[in-house]
Amino acid sequence: FSNNLLVFKKVDSTQKLAKRISQKNTLKEPSIIVTDEQTKGYGRHGRHFYSPSVTGLYFSIIFPNWSNNLSKNELLTIDIAVIVIKVLERFFPDEDFKLKWVNDIYLKNFKVAGIITDIFSKTDGSNNLIVGIGINLTTKKFPKYLVHKATGINGQININRNKLLAQILQEIIDHHRSPKHFLNDYRKRSMILGKKITIQLGNSVMKCTAQRIEENGYLTVKDRFGNLKTYSAGEIVRIKW
Ligand code: BTN
Repeated sequence: FSNNLLVFKKVDSTQKLAKRISQKNTLKEPSIIVTDEQTKGYGRHGRHFYSPSVTGLYFSIIFPNWSNNLSKNELLTIDIAVIVIKVLERFFPDEDFKLKWVNDIYLKNFKVAGIITDIFSKTDGSNNLIVGIGINLTTKKFPKYLVHKATGINGQININRNKLLAQILQEIIDHHRSPKHFLNDYRKRSMILGKKITIQLGNSVMKCTAQRIEENGYLTVKDRFGNLKTYSAGEIVRIKW
């Protein structure tokens, strides 16, 4: 990883900045961008990721020359979610973190962290993978539209953001060097398996029961007629119905 670490007080979004850096530079090594605050942090489906100053950890990692292999990316997303949740468990041993497929981290029914992976295609035909991670640590006040959805971890312990970042990065580097899949660790922490869920697929929503997470990270559900269906992507909009 050498020393490609860029630290900012405030940026629009580390993910956007990572794309601009990818556009202008030919990187040889993975690079990390971390900031205290984001004005335009975003998550999947273009949603805003609220990122106030120093009450959370917001960073992106650029992996240059990523081979564009979709199934590989999906498993990577799962592996990174497991890495982040395990490091959080180490820092906050009393909290019961759960994963909402694919890669949101929850505490009770509130989201505390999100992960996004973007593929950035360069004009020279190569691709960079950009992984963005946002964790709400001590954020207390959320904008109205998030009050019922997100929370800060606010554990009993006051943790050091730099140490948290260092441990997550270390695990991601190790994983990058010798990838191992963590599907069982993922399944154990799932907050949807066996539950009645509502999943949004494009513009339609479907009520079903979450059956299992496949070896490729896809989700298999049973619909109301008893048919099994497997999805590579989708948004769980409700748990229990
Ligand atoms: C999601 O909730 O769907 C993913 C949220 C990802 C947020 C992180 S914060 C650092 C990086 N920069 C961004 O703009 N987004 C990611």
